[in-house]
This record gives sequence, C-alpha cells and structure tokens, in this order.
Amino acid sequence: MVNFHVLTLFPEMVMQGLHTSILGRAVERQHISIEAVNIRDYTTDKHGKVDDYTYGGGAGMLMQAQPVYDAWLSVAERTASKARVIYVTPQGQTFHQEMAKEFAKEEDLIFLCGHYEGIDERVLEEIVTDYVSIGDYVLTGGELPAMVMIDAVARLVPGVLHNDESAATESFHNDLLEYPQYSRPEVWRDKRVPEILLSGNHAKVDEWRLAQSIERTRQRRPDLYEKWETRHFQQEFTQ
Ligand code: ADE
Repeated sequence: MVNFHVLTLFPEMVMQGLHTSILGRAVERQHISIEAVNIRDYTTDKHGKVDDYTYGGGAGMLMQAQPVYDAWLSVAERTASKARVIYVTPQGQTFHQEMAKEFAKEEDLIFLCGHYEGIDERVLEEIVTDYVSIGDYVLTGGELPAMVMIDAVARLVPGVLHNDESAATESFHNDLLEYPQYSRPEVWRDKRVPEILLSGNHAKVDEWRLAQSIERTRQRRPDLYEKWETRHFQQEFTQ
C-alpha cells in the first residue's frame, strides 16, 4: 500500500487523471490511495491569493511559502513517519525505473506541484527531500509530471497489476527493452507471426525473446545496450 498525496493548485486535474483504468481499480481495491490537497485552501490571504512578484524583479509570479507550507503540514501531520516530499521540477534528477522501484517501497509519498515561475526557495529548503524531473523539457506545471511518476510507481505496488509477470518481463527490466509480441490472427496483411512462437517449445521461445530484446535494445537504445553489455560481460567474468 502506498498513499500518494499531491499538493497542487489543480486538484481536479490530478484526481480525474489518476482515477481511471488500472489506477482507479487499484484505489477501489485499496492497494493505493490518492489524495489531492488544494494549496489554495491553505492561504491566509483573504482574497485567496497564493502567488506574488519575485524580489529582485523578473518576469512572472512565484508561489508563496506560507500556503505551500501549511498544505504540506496538513498532510505531514497525518503521515506516520517523515514522508518523502518530491518536488517535481525540471531542475531535478531525471526520473527512471529504479527510482520508481524505490518510491514504491514507501508508505506515503508527497508530491509538490509548482506553477507560474516556481515556488519560494525558503519553503523548498524546509520541506523537500527529492527534486525530480521527468525529462529535459519544460511543462506549464508540475501536475502532469507528478501524474507520470505516480502511474509508474503505483503499477509496481503489489496487487496493482493483475498479472505479476508483467512487471518483471517488461522494458527496462535487466536494462533491456521488451521483445515484440503478436496476437491473432496468424497472418495479417501477408505478415506471419514468427514460426517459433507457434512451436509450443517454451525454452526456444524464451531464447528467441531474449535475442529479440537484445537486438531491439541495440538498435533503438544504444545507450541502454551499452549498459546491459557491460553488466552482462562482467557477470560472465565473475561467474
Ligand atoms: N515542471 C515543469 N517541467 C517539468 C519537468 N520536465 N519535470 C518535472 N517537473 C516539471
């Protein structure tokens, strides 16, 4: 069970996006929980303001420290231990599958979504434990990156996926991409399903799939292939 808490100015975006399909089912079955906390609900400003101009000048508005801190407190008070606070920002480390695995072991995860030109540095220093980006491009806010990470983490939580296999054999497992797959019919637009897959010989099928994974990774992701190759030959050497 992982409890996801999202601090955001757009709670409906997060809740709608994460309550459909597999994650919706996982919430219903209580494998995970997802709550969106509206930062605006915590502002002490009587007009509901959460942003202001930046000291020193410059374009755009900044989210102020007070509402962010109080929204965080409202969650932190309810979580058992000191929960990790992930600030989604292009200035963070790039998210990857290993990080998703680490996060899936936590009981509570708090995602902080920024908007406008960012968040007052002082509150970040006070509460953030992890600065994480989803890639080297800039989005308008942190909600989509938070949703991407929550999806990737949630599917690793035991019980969320039906078939326990699928988390183990997929792309990035062992630094390799997944092999090609085929379903019915046997012939489609003159293209046949590879003969070996119809043979019923499981050992041969496994061998073929591994070879396909290796070749696909070499062609499409030479960077990953290099990593796999180094690790593979090191293992052979030490055996
Ligand atoms: N906020 C804006 N762009 C982002 C990105 N690429 N990753 C994480 N958070 C972001």
